[in-house]
Amino acid sequence: MHFHIEQILELRGRTYVVVTALDDAPFAVQLGSRLGGVPVEPWLEQPRSVGPGGELDRHCFVFVLTTSQDAPRLSPGIDVALQYHAPQELSTQEGYDRWSEIYDEEFNPLIALEERETPWLLEAVQGKRVADVGCGTGRRSLAMAAAGAQVTALDFSQGMLARARAKPGAADLRFVVADITEPLPLAEAAFDVVTCFLVLDHIDDPAALFSELGRVARPDGLVLVTVMHPALMLRGIQAQFSDPENGEKLRPRSVPNQIADYVMAAGQAGLQIDAMREHAVDEELSARSPRARRYMGWPLLLVLQMSSAS
Ligand SMILES: C[S@@+](CC[C@H](N)C(=O)[O-])C[C@H]1O[C@@H](n2cnc3c(N)ncnc32)[C@H](O)[C@@H]1O
Repeated sequence: MHFHIEQILELRGRTYVVVTALDDAPFAVQLGSRLGGVPVEPWLEQPRSVGPGGELDRHCFVFVLTTSQDAPRLSPGIDVALQYHAPQELSTQEGYDRWSEIYDEEFNPLIALEERETPWLLEAVQGKRVADVGCGTGRRSLAMAAAGAQVTALDFSQGMLARARAKPGAADLRFVVADITEPLPLAEAAFDVVTCFLVLDHIDDPAALFSELGRVARPDGLVLVTVMHPALMLRGIQAQFSDPENGEKLRPRSVPNQIADYVMAAGQAGLQIDAMREHAVDEELSARSPRARRYMGWPLLLVLQMSSAS
């Protein structure tokens, strides 16, 4: 599908490209679409200019550039192609094994927001036995151990675990290779705190996992779960990274769980929800990340603070 660029407009910090269609073929702009090689978002408006008799005289569309620094690559008067390469979906395990090579290198606004919104965690785990379920590259497991917790960290991605094990302080942790959709290889009531950070969007049956988190937590123990906000999936966003070799978008398999699924899962697992918070992208986060700016005001993070049955 080809377009002629009519105009490029800057409005309230966003860059809009007004184009007319050169072909009649139907098309769709999805997340991951590129106009002349530049990433564009699904359009917000789809105006058509109208001829003198009221007829539609040409197809005119507005695209939104995802980052304005790409704007100079487009200019009025040129013809460009709209292309879309669907991200390749990998199994969750293979996805994270491959992502592990670069996982810690990119600034991730979701991680930044999560750490900002749970500042009390490190103090709360001092001297406590903690199970960090789906620990990844050990981001929070290592921080909790450094804060004085006795941490057992579980994950099924050997790649992510290898990164975690190579970090300073890793010798103080117990790492366990485990698929957390199976019963956890941990004793009942063995932990004061059970954490599960940014994992649930890969889990088909959150109730089964929550039951296991509750089983291994001591009576009245803290079960703290964070997850990418389900509202993001409504915008087609899910865990994704670019293959450093060729820039291809890759997605570890995700599950479109909704907030209701998590709330119901807690109830079914006998966990009490003591606090549930939704955090949106704000100015502070946008200033740190142009990637986050696109989602200004949109919920990005869900936090569930729960306690196991006493
Ligand atoms: C987005 S990363 C988060 C890692 C870490 N909790 C953090 O917040 O930095 C998701 C992690 O969940 C792990 N994971 C997903 N599904 C899993 C499963 N069924 N069993 C074990 N780990 C799983 C992945 O391997 C990956 O390391």
